[in-house]
Amino acid sequence: MKAGMIILKTHKEIEIMREANRIVAEILQKIGETIQPGTTTGELDKIADRMIEQAKARSAFKGYRMRNQKPYPASICSSVNEEVVHGIPGSRVLKEGDIVGIDVGVVYKGFVGDAAKTFAVGKISDEASNLLHVTEESLYKGISQAVEGKRLMDISGAIQNHVETHGFSVVRDFVGHGVGRKMHEPPQIPNYRSPGWNPRLQAGMALALEPMVNEGTWRIKLLDDEWTAVTADGKLSAHFEHSIAITDNGPLILSEV
Ligand code: MF3
Ligand code: CO
Repeated sequence: MKAGMIILKTHKEIEIMREANRIVAEILQKIGETIQPGTTTGELDKIADRMIEQAKARSAFKGYRMRNQKPYPASICSSVNEEVVHGIPGSRVLKEGDIVGIDVGVVYKGFVGDAAKTFAVGKISDEASNLLHVTEESLYKGISQAVEGKRLMDISGAIQNHVETHGFSVVRDFVGHGVGRKMHEPPQIPNYRSPGWNPRLQAGMALALEPMVNEGTWRIKLLDDEWTAVTADGKLSAHFEHSIAITDNGPLILSEV
């Protein structure tokens, strides 16, 4: 069924999406247990590859094309420090004090699971730790608004308020999204109140909420690899994402183990 452009999911479909997202959550958990000073981002990508294969799923990211970019080459995104999102894993060695955003997407039984977390590498600064906490809290503020009868911008506004109250800024160039058989379905979900389409929320909607939060300016730049987004001022950025479903009983987080 459709509500405007938004594809509503049946109970059965939401159950499958829960399975897809559980695979993602298990991969994020394993990666979190692995990360320490000396780990390379490429090793983390291999862990994801192996677990995706074991689960009989496939990567939603590998080969994905956004706009006119070249196809994405890996199963995870790994974004270190001033990298906002879409960092490409490889030989980079993580060091004590770094923060690293890990984003994972899989397709399982025809449905996409999509989630992300930012991890501390060893001991990090109080400022970095605060950024991680505020970003993750803002995700949960957004989730708490994902109830029938509220509107899309209630989610966006809750995220923005929390972030800005703590003196950080919300990235504007990337958004959360509807999720289902495709990774990116309508609606786009900005992490700030924005004018335009503001649909009422309904049971059966499946949404990927993903605040990207910067320590300094919200402005970003794209690196020459055509994927990696970095903060324009070189300050830190964090990213947390959950896929959720709106149910008669409120929001259901799909991407938990
Ligand atoms: N969670 C991100 C998104 O929803 C991940 C996309 S990475 C890509 O856009 F490589 F697949 F583009
Ligand atoms: Co996403």
